[in-house]
Amino acid sequence: MKSHITWQDQLVTKGERQQLHSHKSAVVWFTGLSASGKSTLCASVAKKLHEQGISTYVLDGDNIRHGLNKNLGFSQEDRSENIRRIGEVSKLFVDAGILTFTAFISPYQEDRELVRKMVEPDEFFEVFVKCSLEECERRDPKGLYKKARAGEIKGFTGISAPYEEPTNPEIVIENDQQDIETSVNQVIDFLQKRGVFA
Ligand code: PPS
Repeated sequence: MKSHITWQDQLVTKGERQQLHSHKSAVVWFTGLSASGKSTLCASVAKKLHEQGISTYVLDGDNIRHGLNKNLGFSQEDRSENIRRIGEVSKLFVDAGILTFTAFISPYQEDRELVRKMVEPDEFFEVFVKCSLEECERRDPKGLYKKARAGEIKGFTGISAPYEEPTNPEIVIENDQQDIETSVNQVIDFLQKRGVFA
């Protein structure tokens, strides 16, 4: 079956789309524990850049699991498939010239590295949203840690399933030690220095 599939080039290139947007496209990959602040930070960075005329889009764990990945659970296999699909979707967004932000726990280093390899070297930036398990558990906005501790949720990240911290992320956000504005600016400054936008 596979051998009968041929890659079809488009008439407009990624470079031409980036030129139209007047900035480069990339995937900015936020990883961290549940309740570490990934979604809030991701959304805030994307909004601030949108207001500056940058074409952004956010792919967020909870939302994607309502649609594209609604058939996936939280086994290691399903989480890997979740991340692989998001990687492929991110790649399409990058091809479309969009600065793409993703907020997924993405607990396995190997899965994150797979996504890194899907795009060009200067198109993937890993952001480790660092927040202690104690603080995430104290926040517990959805009450999931409580349920995990009570054994009502099996395989919960940080409690009964692993979280592999990034070994060499482009950005580390000390999210339990600084305010949101500082974190937002930290990400934006980094992207600017890397020449994603002027
Ligand atoms: S993963 O590990 O990257 O595939 O997870 P992700 O797609 O980001 O989904 C995480 C959100 O799903 C909710 N949830 C769980 N998280 C971790 N472990 C288990 N078992 C689990 N079950 C449900 C939880 O609300 C996560 O949202 P965030 O925003 O990270 O708190």
